[in-house]
Amino acid sequence: FLPKKKKPRDCLINLKIQKENPKVVNEIDIEDLRSTNVCYCRCWRSKTFPVCDKSHIKHNELTGDNVGPLILKKKIL
Ligand code: FES
Repeated sequence: FLPKKKKPRDCLINLKIQKENPKVVNEIDIEDLRSTNVCYCRCWRSKTFPVCDKSHIKHNELTGDNVGPLILKKKIL
C-alpha cells in the first residue's frame, strides 16, 4: 500500500505570505531591537509576519503540529 501522491499545494509551508517574491527573506539588525523579547514567526501563519501573532496556537490545534516562534532575548547590561 502506497500513500496517496501529494499535490504540490499540499507540500507548501508558506500559504500566502509575499507570494509575489521568489523567496521570502527577512533581515533584522540586532541593534535595532527595542524591547527585551521579540518573537519571530516560524509557522508562516502570522498576520504580522515576520513577527509572531500567536497564530501558531490555532495552527497547532487544527493540525496537531508543534511549531512555535523564535524568541530573541536582549540582555540588559
Ligand atoms: Fe507563527 Fe507564532 S504566529 S510562530
